[in-house]
Amino acid sequence: LRHLLTPEGLPRDVLLHILDTAQGFVSFGSREVKKVPLLRGKSVFNLFFENSTRTRTTFEIAAQRLSADVFNLDIQRSSTSKGESLLDTIANLEAMDADVFVVRHSDSGAPFLIAQHTPPHVHIVNAGDGRHAHPTQGLLDMYTIRHFKGDFSNLTVAIVGDIVHSRVARSAIHALTTLGAAEVRAVGPKTLAPDNLRDMGVRVCHDMAEGIRGADVIMMLRLQNERMSGALLPSAHEFNMTYGLTPERLSLARPDAIVMHPGPINRGVEIDSAVADGPRSVILDQVRFGIAVRMAVLSIVASAESQA
Ligand code: CP
Repeated sequence: LRHLLTPEGLPRDVLLHILDTAQGFVSFGSREVKKVPLLRGKSVFNLFFENSTRTRTTFEIAAQRLSADVFNLDIQRSSTSKGESLLDTIANLEAMDADVFVVRHSDSGAPFLIAQHTPPHVHIVNAGDGRHAHPTQGLLDMYTIRHFKGDFSNLTVAIVGDIVHSRVARSAIHALTTLGAAEVRAVGPKTLAPDNLRDMGVRVCHDMAEGIRGADVIMMLRLQNERMSGALLPSAHEFNMTYGLTPERLSLARPDAIVMHPGPINRGVEIDSAVADGPRSVILDQVRFGIAVRMAVLSIVASAESQA
């Protein structure tokens, strides 16, 4: 695996190899940093052209724990503001001996473009591109589900909310179908969960009760206002009344259902605090596992030099 650009089309054994590798990097019950020398001498550049709290920080921690040299380009203060193109920026950072670029960009396809223009020893990891893909989020979601639920084959997973604008949902759906989840449901209003999502192999539900009834896993998504036109945008109150995950609605799912959310959460909109902070929530476990999953991804792509 030279680059990680999308989970779409990645074979099941590759996904499982990443999850299994991540398992070796998870430390339980201790704040002790487990530093390993796998990326000693390598340079990892974090290029976040779009804001991030979780992804950027956990990639930085992951690279540090792998003993890499880590550089976070401050995009606001970079020469991007003087009109330097994305590919020229990359070429200049390559001249500084970059080995891995972790790229988040508001344009779908930006990491793919970079991957087409980098020499064989350079690796690209997509940290979220437009509404297209967020592969490491998809993988940490799979890690979290496997951690709490074990095998995927008996699981019903309900993904609820703004699915059409969500790179997280798209990556989760690709990973869940590859890993053999019994049923994946896309739950939301027609504007945010359109019927053509069926083409991705999911069951589309416009009724919230139908969508989460009997689910083993509920993955809530925020309204991605930054990617919506006004016509599509439901009010926060309207959305909460119809699709917000309340304790009452959660009682429709299986008694041992887990509640996930990629963050950032909007309390009182897609999820009530009583659920987000409740016993079924694994939202902060997702964040924690994100470090191990990103360590796995960085170590796997960086060891793929000879496969160029
Ligand atoms: N889940 C996620 O991508 O969060 P950030 O935008 O904070 O990185």
